[in-house]
Amino acid sequence: MAYLQWTENLSVGIPRMDEHHKKLVELINQVFDAMSGDAASAVDSVLADLLDYTRYHFSEEEKLLAACAYPDLAEHQEVHRSMVKEVLDMRSRHLADPASVTASETLDFLSKWLMRHIIGKDLRYRPYAENHPLA
Ligand SMILES: [Fe+2]
Ligand SMILES: [Fe+2]
Repeated sequence: MAYLQWTENLSVGIPRMDEHHKKLVELINQVFDAMSGDAASAVDSVLADLLDYTRYHFSEEEKLLAACAYPDLAEHQEVHRSMVKEVLDMRSRHLADPASVTASETLDFLSKWLMRHIIGKDLRYRPYAENHPLA
């Protein structure tokens, strides 16, 4: 399976948020690389990095949406929370039994996890956030 790539159609119109999304893509590819190797400890550390950066990105994005009075902020925050939980659950499954989660399944899961959110949710805030000074 090819690596995940950020493409222009994923742009939310706010360069700082696009940079965050690109960094998430990079971290997902690192998870794939780590899982393709044989050190389970490397996988856990890169999953921890992905979780840290995800939390940072979600919090920055929520600050921006609050500043521009985005009407669906509460729903968006709820989705962010459940996305963090999905990765935490995956990390626990991996810790309990590294062989139970393959690299390609994980890449597939994390690709959908990120892409569905950007396309289905993040792109909707573009008209509210695009010209905001915090963006
Ligand atoms: Fe989001
Ligand atoms: Fe986002």
